[in-house]
Amino acid sequence: MKKSYRVGIVGATGAVGTRMREVLEERRFPVASLSLYATGKSAGKKLPWKGEELTVQEAAESAFGALDFVLFSAGAEISRQLSPHAAKAGAVVIDNSNGFRMEPGVPLVVPEVNGRRAFEHRGIIANPNCSTIQLVVALWPLHCRARIRRIVVSTYQSVSGTGLDAMDEMQAQSRARLAGGPEPVPRVYPHPIAFNCLPQVDLFDAAGNSLEEMKMINETRKIFEEPVLSVTATCVRVPVLISHSEAVNVEFEEPLSPDEARTILAAAPGVVVQDDPAAGVYPLARTAEGTDDVFVGRIRRDTSCERALNLWIVSDNLRKGAATNAIQIAETLIENAK
Ligand SMILES: NC(=O)c1ccc[n+]([C@@H]2O[C@H](COP(=O)([O-])OP(=O)(O)OC[C@H]3O[C@@H](n4cnc5c(N)ncnc54)[C@H](OP(=O)(O)O)[C@@H]3O)[C@@H](O)[C@H]2O)c1
Repeated sequence: MKKSYRVGIVGATGAVGTRMREVLEERRFPVASLSLYATGKSAGKKLPWKGEELTVQEAAESAFGALDFVLFSAGAEISRQLSPHAAKAGAVVIDNSNGFRMEPGVPLVVPEVNGRRAFEHRGIIANPNCSTIQLVVALWPLHCRARIRRIVVSTYQSVSGTGLDAMDEMQAQSRARLAGGPEPVPRVYPHPIAFNCLPQVDLFDAAGNSLEEMKMINETRKIFEEPVLSVTATCVRVPVLISHSEAVNVEFEEPLSPDEARTILAAAPGVVVQDDPAAGVYPLARTAEGTDDVFVGRIRRDTSCERALNLWIVSDNLRKGAATNAIQIAETLIENAK
């Protein structure tokens, strides 16, 4: 196996693409060359990489000739259009979009849970939705011990989950409202997000569930390989810049005390327990920002259900929820191929 790899990032100018560059460097991923892609309007733009500058190219079918890994983070449409070309040219595609996640034969991978599935790829590996990733990293070790019967999750999702335009929109609305001036008209979201909570993340299906809620349900089942696991979700966009938070109620088949859950989670890969509420210690969006872990706290019995626990789960959606998880998938492939 090679010692270093030719890597491409499609969506390199975006919120996730920027983190991909940072995480590749921080984790010392063995990069032989880095190619950056975005739309034609960004072609020619210079972005920093290890003290130098790289020029952004327009993503196109013929652009992926000599690459080992291509990390896609530019939306489902462009992934569906270009990923097969990158895979055909010999690269392993790790796709952050919703384009291939539920396709049979495409592994949907969170290394802490099902890293071995990455080796079954036929050119494309899907990175799950950010809200799903942090949920399954925290719940998988508990599922292995006590078998989950049902998950009820409510999300508090930051605006960076929608990308750079949404971050700008929230900040512009906040500034205008605090200054007492007229607020800019919402363009990214259907309502103002500043000083508000929107019970809508993505579009709604005919049954009234948002697509984000259905992603959490279906992706959790696929990753856990539990096709009929009971999962229900309510996804809410909140005026937080970075990190998603989740209030989770989990019912188990077997008895599991809060203390045992804490012990299991403290030893679980990628999980940090922050759970001393009386001292004000619990996971927070702002402390998770810029980190790669999944933080769990407020672990307590559900007094209304004998075998259920409540938890509060927080993680940086741009890093573990997107860039870091994608790069960990590539690391899994190269480490086990040595
Ligand atoms: N944000 C998250 O927390 C998160 C988590 C998991 C997955 N994802 C997924 O990651 C993707 C990008 O998210 P983001 O938050 O980084 O969005 P973003 O900040 O809006 O950035 C979008 C990026 O995609 C590029 N792009 C858009 N259309 C393109 C096209 N037709 N051809 C080539 N490049 C194109 C943009 O290039 P220009 O700058 O040239 O327009 C930009 O680099 C989405 O699929 C999203 O679902 C995001």
